[in-house]
Amino acid sequence: MKKILVTMAFAVLPAFAFAAGGNVPLDHMKPDLEDKVSLQKGAATFMNYCMGCHSMKYARYERVATDLEIPLELFEENLIFSDAKIGELMNIAMQPSQAKNWFGNPPPDLTLEARLRGPDWLYSYMRGFYADPSRPYGVNNSVFKDVGMPHVLAGMQGVCAHKPDTGAEPQVDPLSGRIVKDSGCESYTTKGTMTKEEYDETIYDLVNFMVYMGEPSRMESETLGKWVLLFLVILFIPAYFLNKEYWKDVH
Ligand code: HEC
Repeated sequence: MKKILVTMAFAVLPAFAFAAGGNVPLDHMKPDLEDKVSLQKGAATFMNYCMGCHSMKYARYERVATDLEIPLELFEENLIFSDAKIGELMNIAMQPSQAKNWFGNPPPDLTLEARLRGPDWLYSYMRGFYADPSRPYGVNNSVFKDVGMPHVLAGMQGVCAHKPDTGAEPQVDPLSGRIVKDSGCESYTTKGTMTKEEYDETIYDLVNFMVYMGEPSRMESETLGKWVLLFLVILFIPAYFLNKEYWKDVH
């Protein structure tokens, strides 16, 4: 009995480790691995804006292109910015020791980041940068305090003037039904090229892509799962009649 209890305690332990990831309320996002267009857009954002510093070295370009249904030549021409070949691992040239000098901490590999932090955390983090002149790159983050990463998407989002309220319930004006206050940024010190909604969507796609990267086989299992269920439903029909036939003489 004791053994069983100990085993059970260990089984639920990872859930607590995850919950202890931070006490900041997070905005919620629901990944959709069937939305190929969203995944493709997310991949494009990642290759353009993140791979200068972050590798995804446990994955190969070719697998990503195939899973996301992007023709290999198109992917190689437009989304690989180093001289890497399509069959290679998604490595980068930046040396961790150099990077540590520049940023305080080296940018970690992000292949499994969505499994480490979870989609809600990533979605809130990428929308959580705000102006803080006391920091080396002029920004801080509401989810990751004193982060060493610059706000690389400031051109799109702009720079938020105040610490954004993550995880806040939207407040609706009871008369007009319009949302008067939402989570995320309220006002900006520098304007970006996107509206708040467009930026949120870009980050949704980016995080969706990172969730796919953390577990590429999940996409396959989800599709396969539907066929398996359909198979079981069809199998049920002959099984039902066979069962009836067998018991006919008994009753
Ligand atoms: C100029 C280099 C640079 C670029 C470009 C960059 N990052 Fe970072 N990033 C960093 C550094 C440095 C850290 C480590 C910060 C620290 O630990 O203080 C980091 C940390 C992170 C973390 C947190 C890792 C953790 O500790 O769990 C995430 C998530 C992240 N980056 C996502 C992104 C995404 C997504 C993009 C593209 C939109 C991006 N980064 C682009 C430098 C960069």
